[in-house]
Amino acid sequence: MTTWSTADIEEAARVLRAGGLVALPTETVYGLGANAEDPDAVTSTFKVKGRPPSHPLILHIGSAARLGDWVREVPDTARVLAERFWPGPLTLILRRGPRVPLEVTGGLETVAVRVPDHPAALALLDAFGGGVTAPSANRFGSVSPTTAGHVREELGSDVGFVLDGGPCQVGVESTIVDVTGGTPSILRPGGVTREALEEALGRPVAAPSASPVRVPGQHPSHYAPRARVVLVAPDEVAGEAERLREQGNGVGILLPPGAGEAPAGAHAVVAVPGSMDEYARGLYGFLRELDGSGCDVIVASLPPEEGLGFAIANRLRRAAGPRPSTEG
Ligand code: TXA
Ligand code: MG
Repeated sequence: MTTWSTADIEEAARVLRAGGLVALPTETVYGLGANAEDPDAVTSTFKVKGRPPSHPLILHIGSAARLGDWVREVPDTARVLAERFWPGPLTLILRRGPRVPLEVTGGLETVAVRVPDHPAALALLDAFGGGVTAPSANRFGSVSPTTAGHVREELGSDVGFVLDGGPCQVGVESTIVDVTGGTPSILRPGGVTREALEEALGRPVAAPSASPVRVPGQHPSHYAPRARVVLVAPDEVAGEAERLREQGNGVGILLPPGAGEAPAGAHAVVAVPGSMDEYARGLYGFLRELDGSGCDVIVASLPPEEGLGFAIANRLRRAAGPRPSTEG
């Protein structure tokens, strides 16, 4: 079902040209788009998100052929990866070209670029003609939106226009790969797997360890629902949920396959799909659904960390990470 029209694309492009913000669908999550060459528009994204301005944004462009307009050089590694994975859930870190304002990069001399794989996003980039910066269209630190409804609930009238492209098909953010140095390295796992990157390049790609990703300006807790998230082994989910409930907590459960029955008395239970594609697609919606039940704590476990499971586990770890003591 098509949810957007040519008139929507024109309206979204008009808002971008006028310096406004547009929520746009991508295959990963919804983005909060601004004209990348308008520093005031870019700065307003940080204000709406409540995100520190030192935290750089991803530049979205309409085709790999335009990459050279935005970066100083396109190394061979970048060329191979762009050819293989664009449009798609892969972001490349490259040296910033003069067309990219420092507001976009948080003052860095590198810039994050990707071509999103969604027909509405591509139509908008084509109609608009320039580059669009787009962080995930949620408040800083919270769960990313995978439907237009999530964006409206969270950002409401702070966005000039919400382009509804239906539910996102990948469901977790793009994989960020730094290709400025010798060995390409994954800064954030995402929709393109490490295995697929290594296959495309025919050589190893460095990846972050289980510790939180070290990308400029990131908090340990991110992608986090309102409820506290507790991670345990799959066969301990039911027992831990019961223990927390007995202590008087409202409990939500993200029940892994094969973990047995959820204990009675849970506020809400979401059964995790067996397919990693479906799990990734549903992950943020599941966290929002559990949060919506009013539970105090969500009990979950990590999937096997291969393929898309690597990105899912990364998001769950960060959702469970220590929260800043004061919101801000
Ligand atoms: O799938 C996605 O990537 C989504 C959709 C909307 O495209 N966007 C997204 O944006 O996840 P955001 O702003 O939530 O995350 C951008 C990440 C941040 O972790 C930021 O630190 C990193 O990209 N980043 C941006 N520029 C960077 C740079 N020059 N060097 C290192 N990391 C960078
Ligand atoms: Mg985000």
